Amino acid sequence: MSDEHSWVPPQVDVNVPSVARCYDFALGGKDNFEVDRAAVAAADAVAPEASALAKVNRSWHIRATRFLAEQAGITQYLDLGAGLPTAENTHEVVRRLNDEAHVVYVDNDPVAAAHGRALLDDHYLTRYIEGDLTKPEQILNNPVVLGHLDFTRPIALYQSATLHHQPDDLDLPGIMRHYVDALPSGSYVALSHFWDPGGEAGAPVRRIRESMLAHGLDADHFRSREQIEQLLPGLELVPAGPDSTEGLVPLLDWWPDGPRVGDPGPVQRCVLGAVGRKP
Ligand SMILES: C[S@@+](CC[C@H](N)C(=O)[O-])C[C@H]1O[C@@H](n2cnc3c(N)ncnc32)[C@H](O)[C@@H]1O
Repeated sequence: MSDEHSWVPPQVDVNVPSVARCYDFALGGKDNFEVDRAAVAAADAVAPEASALAKVNRSWHIRATRFLAEQAGITQYLDLGAGLPTAENTHEVVRRLNDEAHVVYVDNDPVAAAHGRALLDDHYLTRYIEGDLTKPEQILNNPVVLGHLDFTRPIALYQSATLHHQPDDLDLPGIMRHYVDALPSGSYVALSHFWDPGGEAGAPVRRIRESMLAHGLDADHFRSREQIEQLLPGLELVPAGPDSTEGLVPLLDWWPDGPRVGDPGPVQRCVLGAVGRKP
């Protein structure tokens, strides 16, 4: 094992890329291996700006979190598929506005969970657990989740760039219904998901999927708008901007931080997101 891998948990195969580590690399992080960096570089080669999708997503995640903490007044957060600790973690964004907010992070990647526990479990209001977000029954009955979040008061639940990494044979709408049913009224769901706009416009994202597959990662599913809409059951979507009547839009268009200079390019629009409130 090379020095780069000396700290790695034994169950991790360092020759296969992982979603969490590829995402970390695309965000400019250091918790990734050569195999992850090669997979991301190959995707960028077949579809320029493929890795920029990660930054587009993380930037939206932070904007949505600011909205939830500041405007919606949410004090409890369940961040599913939270990933490796990054520059601005959910609890850091939230605590700038409310230093008593409770945050539980969940991920099934052993490297993410190990780093997460080491860096984010440091505060009595923050917890990081290893768990499978496709098993809502298990997550919702996890003793840490139950001990840390009060399901009689509104909660913000995140599926931020997580469900597009799940295979087609899972009942993703059913999984989301399970989560939404468990949330009390006044709760919110923040969801982002890779989007295939269809036809020629979707050709670059299909190339990204093929390239990742060739690198051993069958984990990038760019789905249709209709499929993504089904992941927001019974939620009232927050309008995506001051003049918008839509809730589910390319993340770049969801309450951008300020005026846009230049054209970000079509690939960066291939991730949709929404924030929805449970009535
Ligand atoms: C692209 S990253 C997104 C990280 C973070 N949610 C964000 O938006 O910045 C996807 C994360 O989902 C995690 N993930 C994928 N499938 C999962 C599952 N079945 N259970 C828990 N986590 C999962 C991956 O390990 C990875 O850390």
